[in-house]
Amino acid sequence: MELPASITAIGEQLEADREIIPDPQLFAAADVFAAERQRLFLRPWVAVDHQSRLPEPGRFVRFEAATRSILVTRDTEDRTYALRNVCIHAGYPVCDAEEGAAERMVCPYHGWEFAIDGRLVEPDLSARIDLARLRLARYPLCLSDGLIFVDLSRAAPPPGEAPAPPPASNAVPLWFAKATVTSRERYAMQWNWKLALSFVRATPQLVADEPGAAVLTEFGPLSLILSERDRATLLRVMPKSASHTDIAIVRMASPGASGRARNGGDRLADSLHAAADGHGATAPVLDRDFFGWYWSLMSAE
Ligand code: FES
Repeated sequence: MELPASITAIGEQLEADREIIPDPQLFAAADVFAAERQRLFLRPWVAVDHQSRLPEPGRFVRFEAATRSILVTRDTEDRTYALRNVCIHAGYPVCDAEEGAAERMVCPYHGWEFAIDGRLVEPDLSARIDLARLRLARYPLCLSDGLIFVDLSRAAPPPGEAPAPPPASNAVPLWFAKATVTSRERYAMQWNWKLALSFVRATPQLVADEPGAAVLTEFGPLSLILSERDRATLLRVMPKSASHTDIAIVRMASPGASGRARNGGDRLADSLHAAADGHGATAPVLDRDFFGWYWSLMSAE
């Protein structure tokens, strides 16, 4: 796919060491969004949530990540899967529920049934079609220190081969594995995802009680974790269209932490409410570092 002119102009301005003056189309055009979806949104990894979302075998959770609907499931053998929520029959979503427990998922459109590991079990087409094709698409999934990571850039390795964990996962505090999730929220913003991402990258000021001591770790282009001594916040940026972005927030506390966050949680909620309403929150101005990061990903094949 050829890149739109408003994207290549960023590369030209960077390479010529000129001031970056982004074309307004960079934040509004459908072809820019399509190019970003192809080249940037699917890059690994996405930290989607805490593993306490799957407390027992047979549970599933539905996520949106990088404009895709994903089912994360846990089978009776305690194996976990990241499945694309798209039926192999005619492409409709197999599951509308946010989360639940099930032995099978039944596509509501024509009734095809899938096991929790993604295998088609009804109808039985194994005599006519290669078994490998009779399943929901599967992505690499990794559980590391209590977090669920998904890589949407490639297919899952064969059963029995575990994918390598995300490189930055060793920056996550060990207490994450025993953390308590204290809240989950989601905000819809009428902003382009680049502005929303820049906004949440400023979260040390918005989330942390001691911003100077907080550690920000990024997983892929669209998920971030801000860790403090006994609390942490997972932020996921979910581009919906060129001018609409959702932000998902999962707040966690270490086993010894008491009460809720003193200040930070409220400041972030206030800011996101204001941004979602279109009142009182100013979209950030993107700096040269942001555009350098953006161009390095968009220009890579
Ligand atoms: S689209 Fe799922 S059964 Fe037809």
